Amino acid sequence: MSIYLDNAATSHPKPEAVTQAVLEAMTEYNANPGRSGHAAALAAARRVLETRERLAALLNAPDPMSMIHCFNCTDALNLAIKGSLRVGDHVIATQLEHNSVLRPLCTLAARGRIRLTLLPPKPDGFIDPEDVRAAIEPDTALIVCTHASNVTGAIQPVAAIGAIAAEHGIRYLIDGAQAVGALPVDVRALRCDLYAFPGHKSLLGPQGTGGLYIRPGVDLLPLREGGTGSSSESLFQPRELPERYESGTVNLPGIAGLCEGCAYVSEHLSAIMMHERELTSALFEGLSALPGVTLYSPREEAARAGIVAFNAGGLSSTQVADALAGAGIAVRGGLHCAPEAHRFLGTLRRGAVRASVGWANTFEDIDALVAAVKALL
Ligand SMILES: Cc1ncc(COP(=O)(O)O)c(C=O)c1O
Repeated sequence: MSIYLDNAATSHPKPEAVTQAVLEAMTEYNANPGRSGHAAALAAARRVLETRERLAALLNAPDPMSMIHCFNCTDALNLAIKGSLRVGDHVIATQLEHNSVLRPLCTLAARGRIRLTLLPPKPDGFIDPEDVRAAIEPDTALIVCTHASNVTGAIQPVAAIGAIAAEHGIRYLIDGAQAVGALPVDVRALRCDLYAFPGHKSLLGPQGTGGLYIRPGVDLLPLREGGTGSSSESLFQPRELPERYESGTVNLPGIAGLCEGCAYVSEHLSAIMMHERELTSALFEGLSALPGVTLYSPREEAARAGIVAFNAGGLSSTQVADALAGAGIAVRGGLHCAPEAHRFLGTLRRGAVRASVGWANTFEDIDALVAAVKALL
């Protein structure tokens, strides 16, 4: 891969320590964590715990045991949503959500199990917290909001929504797919009950990793039941965390890699944020100077994550993405699994080109993308 600007899908490259940690887990202590008492199994269990502790520190979670290892952000969101809802509940979500939120909710709504209110953003692309307040009904059981739109990068007022949810005693889930590792995240300050995140995006871990923060005291119905290596005499799922939500063998190599990704991000977070913000601004400015380019991301630097969404001339987004791929530049075209966000932007048919920066990108990468789009126009 010559120039990689598709970090919102999955980050590339990973720090060397991440790759090494995956290899080490598979060669040095490739055992089942939490099951046996031999040295390799204990080493594996220690690595899984260390990752939990690093994740808790990064998100300011009060207890590492409240960080549940999942297989990706979709897995975490499904557990949070389906584990929270009961027949007759009302749910408030937004039109900016990814299909990993929309599909579970819409399926439950279509089966008549829940009622769903999908709030539109304001014309500037941000949800108004007062719209959330106004949508609350007596049986509202869950509010869901994305931390940053995966289409436009617009950072949503998740703390203000958290204050409203807390005021009304309503469970609050944030989809942190585009935020963790790219923005400071403090689950206590956000006053959320559940925070879902992938390990393979800005946390720089391998694919097949992710997690769910569950605020202590919040109970979910487990989606999977099975072996946990603990309470084996019981025929039922243990109540203790994390075992309650982690049935079956975890992805040890992935989690070992994620541990090093977290270590890298914790050490360099402010430098990464500043670098990605400067790259995103250079990209935004470079593209906005080209006649024929339409931009969909917020103009204000502090209001967007490292994503710039655009279209060029009369071309479809996939034509542009394919042409850029031909020029050795990896971006994404199409609908980005967020159909309602595209309906809002008026790009449901055409999609949008999404360029997303990462820790290893350079200003030369940005110049190359802008020059390639210019040549295409
Ligand atoms: C906002 C958002 N939510 C959820 C997801 C799903 O993440 P994963 O691919 O880790 O399941 C993504 C992935 O792109 C996303 O951008």
